[in-house]
Amino acid sequence: MNMTTEQAINRILENQIPVKSDIEYLLSIEDKEDIAILFEAARVCRDQYCGKKVHLRGIVEFSNYCSQDCIYCGIRKSKDEVARYRLSFEEIIGAVQTIYDAGVKTVVLQSGEDPYYDTGMISKIIKEIKISFGLAITLSLGEREFIEYDVWRQNGADRYLLKHETANPKIYSALHRGQQLEQRLEHLGYLQQLGYQIGSGNIIGIPEQTLADIADDIILCTKYELDMASFSPFIPAAGTPLGDWEKANVLLTLKTMAAARLALKNTHIPATTALATLDARGREKGILCGANVVMPSFTPAAVKPKYEIYDNKRCITEDAAACMPCLKARIESCNVSIDEGFGHSLKLAPIC
Ligand code: 5AD
Repeated sequence: MNMTTEQAINRILENQIPVKSDIEYLLSIEDKEDIAILFEAARVCRDQYCGKKVHLRGIVEFSNYCSQDCIYCGIRKSKDEVARYRLSFEEIIGAVQTIYDAGVKTVVLQSGEDPYYDTGMISKIIKEIKISFGLAITLSLGEREFIEYDVWRQNGADRYLLKHETANPKIYSALHRGQQLEQRLEHLGYLQQLGYQIGSGNIIGIPEQTLADIADDIILCTKYELDMASFSPFIPAAGTPLGDWEKANVLLTLKTMAAARLALKNTHIPATTALATLDARGREKGILCGANVVMPSFTPAAVKPKYEIYDNKRCITEDAAACMPCLKARIESCNVSIDEGFGHSLKLAPIC
């Protein structure tokens, strides 16, 4: 290929929808200097479009029951060894209190696909969080009924996180027991229509995935004009069909995040816990490749180890509040400051 790293970077920065071969090229570079140029360009792009800032989101993983059987996931339905738990309304609100006390302004309510929490229960939690704490709320509950998305939005939920996992329809169906990518994207589109700030993203390093597939993931994110996009490395979870599959390559994950930053401009991109699990300096490396979000878990310590979607998840035995000084120091070592606001989508028109 007759292309240089600078040319590919500049073309991606100039185009609204990137050219696939430019992204593929950046994902394939191996020369140390080229990689340094890519990462530097991603940082400059982040600073320009998002500021030298990182937003914190506190996650409460309130149930590890799941009706889905995704072959990569450590809390999939058919994994019998998982000790299942559900947090009560009071326990969830207690965890949100710790998020509020830590000065974090977004709560992410995450669970497996667990219909036990019906429309009304989730609505009650949303309303209580809005009334008592006034925090921004992200839901991450998997695929639910369209009417539920509607009700929760009306009750005050601000954002919805639903990863597309892979833009390759064949791989999608293989990972999700015959389910269709198309359906996932219909849900994502509907959530966007309802006025949610939407987040999606992929997993890097799954079977059969090529660099072209990862380029398609990034292009899909640009087409949906996502408010948030997450690129997480695959980590095997014992006792699942992919339990012996090799973990993702950290460098490829970082190149993906950097290329995504150039393509997505002001979309929020997290330095994921999965990246921090694979590499002791994963959070820092992610931020130095253009990430601007970190999502610490505030799941109560008693159940946190049970929400193990992959093995050896980072900081799983620590209490969230105790982790905060370490996390903040790590972030601030990357020449960025921690934003104190809600960290809403940067794609929304500024409120005058
Ligand atoms: N490795 C990496 N990421 C995973 N996820 C689930 N299982 C794994 C795994 N084994 C990610 C998926 C899911 C999110 C909550 O966690 O992208 O959407």
